[in-house]
Parts: sequence; structure tokens; C-alpha cells
Amino acid sequence: MTIRTSIKYLGEHTGKTVLLEGWVYNSRSSGKLGFLMLRDGTGIAQCVVSRADVGDELFSRFDELTQESSLTVIGEVRADGRAPGGYEIGVESFQLHQQAIDYPIAPKEHGTAFLMDHRHLWLRSRRQHAIVLIRHEIIKATRDFLDNNDFILVDTPIITPNAVEGTTTLFEIDYFGQPAYLTQSGQLYNEANAMAHKRVYCFGPTFRAEKSKTRRHLTEFWMVEPEMAYCDLDENMIWAEKLIEYVVGRVLENRAAQLDMLERDRAKLEAVTAPFPRISYTEAVDILHAAGQEFEWGGDFGGGDETVISEQYDRPVIVHRFPARIKAFYMKVDAEDARLALGMDVLAPEGYGEIVGGGQREENLDVLLERLAEEDLDPETYQWYLDLRRYGSTPHAGFGMGIERVVAWICGLPHVRETIPYPRMLQRMEP
Ligand code: 4AD
Ligand code: MG
Repeated sequence: MTIRTSIKYLGEHTGKTVLLEGWVYNSRSSGKLGFLMLRDGTGIAQCVVSRADVGDELFSRFDELTQESSLTVIGEVRADGRAPGGYEIGVESFQLHQQAIDYPIAPKEHGTAFLMDHRHLWLRSRRQHAIVLIRHEIIKATRDFLDNNDFILVDTPIITPNAVEGTTTLFEIDYFGQPAYLTQSGQLYNEANAMAHKRVYCFGPTFRAEKSKTRRHLTEFWMVEPEMAYCDLDENMIWAEKLIEYVVGRVLENRAAQLDMLERDRAKLEAVTAPFPRISYTEAVDILHAAGQEFEWGGDFGGGDETVISEQYDRPVIVHRFPARIKAFYMKVDAEDARLALGMDVLAPEGYGEIVGGGQREENLDVLLERLAEEDLDPETYQWYLDLRRYGSTPHAGFGMGIERVVAWICGLPHVRETIPYPRMLQRMEP
């Protein structure tokens, strides 16, 4: 009997005959033996085709197995310590589905632009495959952590009339003649949802018309945003820290092979345990000055500044209490220093910069109205949001964690373009 299975499960079928469905990773043959590396999405297996076993006619068709051709293979599973994965298939027969001629991504070096143009094919390569698996683990771990801590997933809209994170990065769309935007963050709706469920989160694509080319910015990125009623800045920091610690732990536990494939130094990730250091914005500015950086108190940190600050630590560092002027209208003002807002950013180590941004929200209606006016935002479109301060307002806080930034950091990638299957950036919308 032939068992239809996947490469990942070969170990359960030693000595049995299996059917595998996949693509040619590579192949080479001599007059008598053909070696096929078959990939099926769950792994790569060495398949050996012997002329003596399959006969002249089928063996002559081995040459059709060009890189990325699709085929089905039937053969016996043999334990073999030398084979990648520890098992080898002694092929009894194979059937070609489609022969791939001149697959563009040859096993040689290609430039980034070429690979990005062929992203739809590049995703099949081992490195990209490993990154997608780690991304999947990060998302799954994030959701498990929140679900296990009584956070309810409540979806927030993609199309919205409201700006959340300033007006300069809005993508405007025409909503039947009315101006609307692609969401920059689900936060405002999350705040409403938290008043219904206490602890909530949204997880979805968010959009920012980022007009600068950097290695950390996408125009479409995925953000998970927890929001908690009856939560202050300190507790918010603990949630962010716990979430990050959990996510890194899960990747180490379940995706060590993929980290190794990416040559990621696992010891650096093993150091990521709570508590994370906490420093105020003002202390962070002192660090910049001590490092000889020119920086004026009151400004926003650039990527280079974040790198200098985070390099002082072997784990993420939480920076809190930023100048209110550089933060969004909804941030609660620090009762001890009116120049400051109760915001926090988590900066990843090794120069990966900000992975989390959030803080405590302003719960007072009048203060919020003043802040809207200061930011030149029309209070009319925020009436529904202001209702949350009219009907049972509570202290509350939350944050957003950018999935691609976390993937870049955990995988040790130099650029966010490899962290998402189809990156959208200033100069790229295709494929
Ligand atoms: O700091 P940000 O702008 O915070 C917010 O959007 C809040 N409303 C979230 C909240 O409190 N619910 O963005 C949060 C995170 C950043 O720390 C970063 O990880 C990621 O989103 N991010 C981006 N990632 C990729 N490309 C971009 N252009 C990003 N902008 C922000
Ligand atoms: Mg931010």
C-alpha cells in the first residue's frame, strides 16, 4: 500500500512505500543513478532513482526533471544518516506534472532588484521559506499569548475617516465621493472595543504613505495591537515585555532549524528575558550625548539614534515619557511634567530599532478636545471616539507591535523587504 504523505513525516514511515508531491529542488544523474532533491513545502528529501530499479524507459525521463518542475514520486523510505533530514527515498516511479524550462532563479547569486522582481518565485528558496515559517510562528505565538491572557480578538476597519498617527502618512481613497483613508492603526476602535471587553486586540494590515526609503519602513505592514481598560503605563510596559519574551521563546523552541538556516546567532535571542531595562526619553537623550551624538531634547529619534540607544543593552529596552509635542493627540499627558506624554517605545537590540509603540491614553474629554485642536484635527470626525470619554471613561493603555520589524530582528535580516511575502514600499508595488 502506498501512503500519501509529506516530507516532514517521513520518519513515521521507514520501510514503507510513500507518495510525495512536490517540486525539483535540484537533480543530477550518472548513467545508472539519478539524485533528485525533492522539496514539497514541508521539507527537502533526497530521492534516488536507480536504472536497475525503474528500468531504462523511466530512467531516460530523469533528464526532464529540471529545477522547479512539479512531480509526484513513489518510493520506499530508508533511514540514511547522510541524507538531509535523515531519510532517503528509493524511487519506484515518478510522474512529471509540468516541466519548468529555464527557471529564472538559478542556484547562483542574483541582485536584490532581480530577486524582488521575482518575489513570487523567490519565496520558494530555502532562506525565504525559513523566514515565512518564522513569521508564521511569531504571529501564532503572539495570538496564543494574547488569547491565553484573556484578550479578545475584535477586528477593526481598514477603511476609516480618521487619522490616528498624524496626517502626513495617510493614504486617501475615494469612498463614494467622500474622502476616506486606509487605516494607520486600529487603535481608536480598539479603545472602544476595550470598553466593551476589557482586554482586546486587533491584528491586521495597516498603511502609511511613508515617503522615505529606509530599511525599516513599509507602506503596508501588519500590526498587532492590544488595548486594555483599567491599565496604566507601567502595566502596559509589562504586557509588551511579556509578549516579546514569549514570542522569542516560542521561535527558539519551535523554529531553531530555521534560525540556523538563516545563520542567526541564537545566543542573542536567548538573552531576551524579562525584565527589560526601562529608561525615560530624557535618559535616552543623555545616552546619545554621552555617545557623542548631536541631539536636541524635544526631537524625535531617528533610526540612527535608536541604534545607538539600543546598542547599550543585550535585550530590548523600553523608552518612556516622550515630549508630548512629538506624540499623537491621544496620549495622556504626564501629571508630573506637562511637557511629557505617557508613551513608550520598545527598541529591539542589535540596531533593529522600534518594534513596539504605545502608551496610556488621555481619558479626559476636555484635555482630548484641546489636543485635537492643537493637532489641527477636526473634532467632528472624532465624536464617536470622544463618546468613550463621555460614557464610562477609564484609565486605559495599549500598544502596537509591528510584525515585520519583529521578524527582521528575530531573523537577523538587514531589511524589512524580506519579512513579508509581498512587500509594499515607496518604489515597489509589484509583484
Ligand atoms: O509607533 P506606531 O506608529 O504606533 C501606533 O500606530 C499606535 N497607534 C499603536 C497602538 O498604540 N495601538 O506604530 C507601532 C509599530 C511600530 O513600533 C513599528 O513596529 C510598526 O508599528 N511600524 C511600522 N512597521 C513597518 N513599516 C512602517 N512604516 C511602520 N510604522 C510603524
Ligand atoms: Mg512609534
